[in-house]
Amino acid sequence: MEVKVSKAQVTHIQADGRSSKPSKGWKRLFATKSIDRLQADAKNSMLERTLNAADLAAIGIGGIIGAGIFVLTGIAAAKNAGPAVVLSFVVSGVAASTAALSFSEMASLIPLSGSTYTYVYATMGELAGWIIGWDLILEYLVGAATVSVGWSGYFRSFLKNTFGIQISERYTSAPIVFDTDTQSFRMSGNVLNVPAIFITLTISILLYTGVRESARVNTVIVITKLLVIVLLILACIRHVDPKNYTPFFPPNEGAFSMYGASGMFTAATTIFFSYIGFDAVTTVAQEAKNPERDLPIGICASLIICTVLYIAMCMIMTGVVPYKELNSPSPISVVIEYTGMSWLTIIVEFGALIGLTSVMLVFLLAQSRVFYSMAHDGLLPSCAAKIHKKFRTPWVTTVVSGSSCAILGGVLPVDILGEMSSVGTLFAFVLVNIGVIILRIKRPDLPRRFKVPFGPYVIPVLGVILSVLLICAATVSTITRLFAWIGVGLVIYGLYGRTHSKINEPISDVQNYEMNRVGSISESV
Ligand code: ALA
Repeated sequence: MEVKVSKAQVTHIQADGRSSKPSKGWKRLFATKSIDRLQADAKNSMLERTLNAADLAAIGIGGIIGAGIFVLTGIAAAKNAGPAVVLSFVVSGVAASTAALSFSEMASLIPLSGSTYTYVYATMGELAGWIIGWDLILEYLVGAATVSVGWSGYFRSFLKNTFGIQISERYTSAPIVFDTDTQSFRMSGNVLNVPAIFITLTISILLYTGVRESARVNTVIVITKLLVIVLLILACIRHVDPKNYTPFFPPNEGAFSMYGASGMFTAATTIFFSYIGFDAVTTVAQEAKNPERDLPIGICASLIICTVLYIAMCMIMTGVVPYKELNSPSPISVVIEYTGMSWLTIIVEFGALIGLTSVMLVFLLAQSRVFYSMAHDGLLPSCAAKIHKKFRTPWVTTVVSGSSCAILGGVLPVDILGEMSSVGTLFAFVLVNIGVIILRIKRPDLPRRFKVPFGPYVIPVLGVILSVLLICAATVSTITRLFAWIGVGLVIYGLYGRTHSKINEPISDVQNYEMNRVGSISESV
């Protein structure tokens, strides 16, 4: 269908947020998108606005509770922090909260579904926008792969405990592992993580055909997850043995990441993964009834609820089981085994499987949207912005995201994937915090429904410092991989994005309308 666009609807993406002069040369790299324009786009959204604050909080919790608490907590306690993993949760929780407040201010100002990519492009320019879009692959795609490996662990355990079916570890574990002693990858002797590949491909097919989680289905899943965690806490509390809390900080064993205070920080970086996902709330900004007010409520409420539950759950896990025993792909099953309440196993494992599936769905959906936005801006080839004629889904980005995620989940172990995803997200959070400061300075005039408390500096600067500290606490190999990843991204930008960017081209609402049609979480399954 041909859509006529009036002159007033056509605009340039602008360098200073107001003028419409095209930016040239190196200036282009720092050219930003106009906030006024983005706000107009948000107002013109064709999506139906059906979500209220409670729905948004449920979407946040749906994205947050997953492999972090169900899988990585055990590994972080066993390998890095011991019982002090509880403190790791507090440290990560504070870092996540600062980012949540900054996200809230940004989301109330720019209620568009591009999330971090849109905020950074709008405040720091094209180059930073590209870097963050590239970095988000670590959060969403590698994050989904992490969850798929966690799903596989619980699936194996569920089949064994419920149906007595035992699948060989050779087909449920990674063929490649990272040897911390030699600091190099080696083959483990396993063949492939088949269930991780299976769940990723299944979800990708659902997303390809346009079947996506409705807000109502999400709410049911979220209630199930919350009930499972509360049930677990209440059932296990009397099995806590205070002896397991000592030593609270097991003495450091030489390497930075092995116990002691430094190990606690390394664990904080790993389990930071548990908090990722609240930003998913911002990807449905255009479907919120009152986004300026409800997005901050949804983001903050989901994070507060999850932080409280995480800390309680972690106290239970390390209180019931000696921390070294928690090094398992399904540590909750180990906890239940210790309590002897086998009736709880099936309920909890089933809850974990559903919960992990919903996180993967949200992350793979988010990844395809981010790729799609980048392709629309010309930073990726235009074929990535293709919409399926029948299903109305961005099928190219869905296929690319799904197959890459399946390969990663099929061959790599959960700790490597989780840590990469954590540092990638921390890096994104650094830029969002900086974005808040920049916008307060550049555009103090914009009316903000939600403002980060205590002025533009205290919390965003604290957020930047904490996030950088947590990145520094990651293992050297993870930090190296982060920089290598960003380096590859810069090369691709230099070779492709810089010359194909549409930053100086007029854009029309038609494009935005087309993008808006890509998908709505409030559509029915
Ligand atoms: N926070 C999500 C999880 O733990 C990504 O699975």
